[in-house]
Amino acid sequence: MADATRYRLAVIPGDGVGPEVTAAARHVLETTAEAFGFGIDWTDVAAGGNAIDKFGVAIRPEDVVLCGEQDAVLLGAVGGPRWDDPRAPVRPEQALFTLRGTLGLFANLRPVMVYPQLFAASPLKPDLLDGVDLLIVRELAGGIYFGERAEPSGDVGGRSARDTLPYTEAEVRRIVRLGFEEAKADFPDVTVNHQLVDSAAMLLVRRPADFDVIITENLFGDILSDEAAVLAGSLGMLPSASLGTRQTEYGTFGLYEPIHGSAPDIAGRDIANPLGTILSAAMLLRWSLGREDAAEAVERAVARALDEGHRTADLAVAGPAVDLVGTQSMAQLVAERIETP
Ligand code: IPM
Ligand code: MN
Repeated sequence: MADATRYRLAVIPGDGVGPEVTAAARHVLETTAEAFGFGIDWTDVAAGGNAIDKFGVAIRPEDVVLCGEQDAVLLGAVGGPRWDDPRAPVRPEQALFTLRGTLGLFANLRPVMVYPQLFAASPLKPDLLDGVDLLIVRELAGGIYFGERAEPSGDVGGRSARDTLPYTEAEVRRIVRLGFEEAKADFPDVTVNHQLVDSAAMLLVRRPADFDVIITENLFGDILSDEAAVLAGSLGMLPSASLGTRQTEYGTFGLYEPIHGSAPDIAGRDIANPLGTILSAAMLLRWSLGREDAAEAVERAVARALDEGHRTADLAVAGPAVDLVGTQSMAQLVAERIETP
């Protein structure tokens, strides 16, 4: 199986639990590379609050360029209470917007797989969770995140402010097209339902198994995917892939990150769930490196670790068969379960 291929990956640990979950995913990727006989050259990039402290900006322009020159980027999370002043001119999340915007990453794929082993970790009844397997296709480069805005003006009590949510036809068309391509891969005859977001939010917990692909705008997609994480048992379980159109030698260039944030309250304690980031690494293998076999090996290893009862604290529901583990132990358990092809 061994080949000489060496992939170029940037890793952006970020803030809070970001460094822990990216270290975990990196370990799993290294183990997978060894098992499958390829190599990875890593480039570390600072972004988020730590970059503000070091460089005065959430990400340096040259680092954005550097990211764009890799085969893919793996990101943890950015932000934290130290940089949380909404009036600050420089904020950690600007790194995300700059990366997404500059690198043309307009499609954020957020698959929601529900492992039967984790039914008990969700507050929803198991019969509602049975058969849930959906994909949220979140538009990522438009909408209110990038719209024209006006800061509050006027006197206290009579102030007004404005955020706008613009979309061009072309932006809508490209995300809908991508969503349809995804849907068609599994369902040759695609049936379309136009759904208002309020009722979609309700149905997502009422009849989640009815959804296959949800194509939605940027902010709605952000909100609906956190809601959907409840189906999976924890926000820590869900991965994401941010893609554009740029093709590399191996696949589609992309940025991969868990959907959760930097969770400053549990940072540095080795208790964060690394599986969302590890599953993001599997998506990276699949989409950007064209390594479907390796991606599946990682996903199978995650399922096996869960089958055997290993759980991080967010997923631990008391029971005789549950083995409570930390962030790096979970990564090690997954790594040990990667099957050599
Ligand atoms: C996400 C996050 C970001 C977003 C925040 C941190 C700006 O919630 O990636 O899901 O809203 O895109
Ligand atoms: Mn979010």
